[in-house]
Amino acid sequence: MQKGVINMNILFFGTKSYDKEFFEKLVGSGAYHDLELTFIEPNLTPETARLADGYLAVCAFVNMNLSKSTIYTLQKCGVKLILMRCAGFNNVDLEAAKECGIIVMRVPGYSPEAVAEHAMALVLTADRHMHKAYIKCRENNFNLSGLMGVNLHGRTAGIVGTGKIGTAMAKICRGFGMRIIAYDMYPNKDLDFIEYVSFEQLLAEADLISLHCPLTEDNYHMINKDTIQQMKDGVMLVNTSRGALIKTADLIQGIRDEKFFAVGLDVYEEETGIVYEDMSDRILEHSTMARLLSFPNVMVTSHQGFFTREALQAISQTTMDNALAFVEGRKSGNEL
Ligand code: NAI
Repeated sequence: MQKGVINMNILFFGTKSYDKEFFEKLVGSGAYHDLELTFIEPNLTPETARLADGYLAVCAFVNMNLSKSTIYTLQKCGVKLILMRCAGFNNVDLEAAKECGIIVMRVPGYSPEAVAEHAMALVLTADRHMHKAYIKCRENNFNLSGLMGVNLHGRTAGIVGTGKIGTAMAKICRGFGMRIIAYDMYPNKDLDFIEYVSFEQLLAEADLISLHCPLTEDNYHMINKDTIQQMKDGVMLVNTSRGALIKTADLIQGIRDEKFFAVGLDVYEEETGIVYEDMSDRILEHSTMARLLSFPNVMVTSHQGFFTREALQAISQTTMDNALAFVEGRKSGNEL
């Protein structure tokens, strides 16, 4: 390959300032001089896909709509490669990409600890009412009413999915002195401190349930009225995985029935269209989010589990390595 000649132009959809900062810094370092990056703000949707006209590759994120219609438009634009700058890909129609001869690559693991540490931050915030304590102290209210939490030490953590992030979360919970039980169809034999149990047993025994499995057709709404009923009273539930693992209406009913001591959500069913956007001067379309935010024991964040410096460095590095492998006709190992 001739050095200094641009071999691939990549259109970045849904660019935020931090994407630009990390990717430009990396490409500016010289290792990726065959790649030319163009950053635009709109998210990738069936309507915006035509902006990719003339680009060989597009780069998209977890909150975008890579449905069949989007992918067929990308094909018409001449796109040959979709670079997902994330791990999850349930928003990509892989079948359509195959039909169109478009290769899809992702970043399978960048910093499992980033997501697991955020999951524990949600647990601690909701359990110890940090969000309320912060506001109270700022207003010179040093009264402790409404702030009582429970110890994690000695309690049981139930980890659903012991892949990279679930393992990191299990290790964190172990550090807190918790007993660790887990459910996964493929138990990891190296994790000798974990007791693998059935999903039903996990629901019945865990004081803290943390979801770390990908969203599939089989586990859609795995947390619903029936499974909530099987949980212990006063359970804590955390979801940093995918919103549709939980049936939100049933969760809200469970919270109203005082089933949960604390709930931490980094992802939720209605996040498409609002996540990563400043909606502070708008009226939200979905009332379920407002309902969730009205509960004092619920902590919601906006799909930010991945959002650490280390994770962004790793995401940009792997995404550019994926692009380079494509340019050089190699497999990166991250093809879907
Ligand atoms: P991984 O592929 O390393 O592990 C997933 C594990 O879940 C595997 O061990 C698999 O056997 C297990 N699993 C699959 N279906 C299951 C089911 N129905 N019940 C129980 N276990 C099941 O994935 P990784 O990297 O740990 O990521 C997990 C999920 O975290 C991703 O799929 C994604 O949805 C989410 N995620 C969230 C982020 C955030 O910013 N909040 C960032 C990155 C990932």
